[in-house]
Amino acid sequence: MGLGCGNPVRLAELREGETVVDLGSGGGIDVFLAAREVGASGRVIGVDMTPEMLTRARQNAERLGVENVEFRQGLIEALPLADSSVDVILSNCVINLAPDKGAVFREAFRILKPGGRLVVSDMVARGKLPRDIAENPELWASCIGGALPEQEYLESIRKAGFPSVDVLTREGLELGHVYSVTVRALKAERPTIKKAATEDLEPVLKLLAEASLPTDGVAEHFQNFLVAREGGRVVGAVGLELYGPSSLFRSLVVGPEYRGRALGRALTEGMLEHARRAGVRRLFLLTETAGEFFATFGFKRIRREEADPEVQQSVEFRTACCASAVTMRLDL
Ligand SMILES: C[S@@+](CC[C@H](N)C(=O)[O-])C[C@H]1O[C@@H](n2cnc3c(N)ncnc32)[C@H](O)[C@@H]1O
Repeated sequence: MGLGCGNPVRLAELREGETVVDLGSGGGIDVFLAAREVGASGRVIGVDMTPEMLTRARQNAERLGVENVEFRQGLIEALPLADSSVDVILSNCVINLAPDKGAVFREAFRILKPGGRLVVSDMVARGKLPRDIAENPELWASCIGGALPEQEYLESIRKAGFPSVDVLTREGLELGHVYSVTVRALKAERPTIKKAATEDLEPVLKLLAEASLPTDGVAEHFQNFLVAREGGRVVGAVGLELYGPSSLFRSLVVGPEYRGRALGRALTEGMLEHARRAGVRRLFLLTETAGEFFATFGFKRIRREEADPEVQQSVEFRTACCASAVTMRLDL
């Protein structure tokens, strides 16, 4: 029943109730193994392009009496599944057969829920395959010709949007041009931005200290902080020292592994909205490195002594930021 090159089901650590999709399900072996793990409250959907394989898989399901499974005809490059609808994607020795692996991983990313995972076993190559191998249709069909070098394979998963990609196993390294890997990639949850709660103070202070940003006055003004959370963890923050119509924007910070995902922008937008609602008319800030970033929100550089007196009295103006910091102002 199986033509695989690893055991993605074992490594996926499936849980009761999860919805799972198997790309290129063939006779259905991994679908049936997964069905046992997710139980009656879960569901496993096999996708395959070959009608004969679908017929065989459905017959196998009937013979085995497995009910929480379904087999759909479709291409793994254009999956017949809705956006953000599945918890886990499995695949066993199939993606190497697809000429456009990027398209497969983009589809996988699309159908996974935030926080979902992709666990695939596949063949990869030791390096770029010689043309006589890569262009030989028989070797392509036997899962050799289409194998990408491991680094290229992992890169195409990252490019599809998965921030974290790990190789769990490598097997058959002693053989010729290709070997098998099992890879796990996670679709990050979208961070949520909310008003800071008391228990967020400690992780925010830690983030600021790690980014070498001032922590003086944070505790006193914490009721006007926002935090970004992902999977229960604080991954970013921004603060306001509220002094009335003239106030201070401060402490914008994003954890290193969350940079490059527009989280700083989302936090800044959230804080500008919070400041407007709090009646702030003129917002000031000090920054050493992010002047260009803040300029994109309309902040303008001013001389430090031009800041309003209330802000000159602020904790940050009095205690932090050296002469190299620039002062900026935004009229809300
Ligand atoms: C090597 S078999 C592996 C089957 C199964 N995963 C297993 O481990 O036994 C490859 C399967 O992928 C299917 N397949 C290959 N390319 C596909 C594509 N682009 N879209 C959908 N199915 C595909 C084939 O029809 C075949 O059933």
